[in-house]
Amino acid sequence: MLLAASIVGVCANADDAPAGDAALYQVQDGSKVDPKTLMGWKTWRALACERCHGAEQEGLVGPSLVNSLKVLSKEDFHTVIMNGRPEKGMPPFSTSDMVNKNWEGLYAYLKGRSDGKIQPGRLAPIE
Ligand code: HEC
Repeated sequence: MLLAASIVGVCANADDAPAGDAALYQVQDGSKVDPKTLMGWKTWRALACERCHGAEQEGLVGPSLVNSLKVLSKEDFHTVIMNGRPEKGMPPFSTSDMVNKNWEGLYAYLKGRSDGKIQPGRLAPIE
C-alpha cells in the first residue's frame, strides 16, 4: 500500500515540478496522506487560514490558494507565510511554533489541493 501511495505522489507532481519535488506528498483515496502532509493540514486548521482563504482554499478576502500554488515557488510561499503582506491583509505567521515546524507540510498539503490530488475537508493518515 505504501508503495502505491508513493507512486500517486510521484504522478501528482510529474507534470509541473522538478524531479526533486517528486515525493512532496503522498496521498491515498484523496483523503489519506503521509504524516508530514497531515501535520500541514492540521496547521492549516489550527491557524484558521480558511477564515480568509476559504475552507476549500477557494479564496475569500484572500486569494484562492488552489490557484496561487500553481505559480508560487516553495521559497516564495515560505516568505509570504513568515513575513505576511500586512499592508494587503495577509498576517505574518513567523511567531507561530506550529507554522515554523510544519510550513513544509503546509506547502505540501496546499500543493496537493492545488494539484487536485488531495480532497477538501478532513484528512487521515495513510495506514
Ligand atoms: C486575515 C486574513 C488572512 C489569514 C488569516 C491568512 N491569509 Fe493568506 N492572504 C491574505 C490576503 C488578503 C492575501 C493577499 C495578499 C496580496 O494581495 O498580496 C494573502 C496571501 C497569501 C498567500 C500568497 C498568495 C499569492 O498568490 O501570492 C499565501 C501562500 C497565503 N496567503 C497563505 C496563507 C496561509 C497558509 C495562512 C494560514 C497560516 C493564511 N494565508 C492566513 C489573507 C489572510
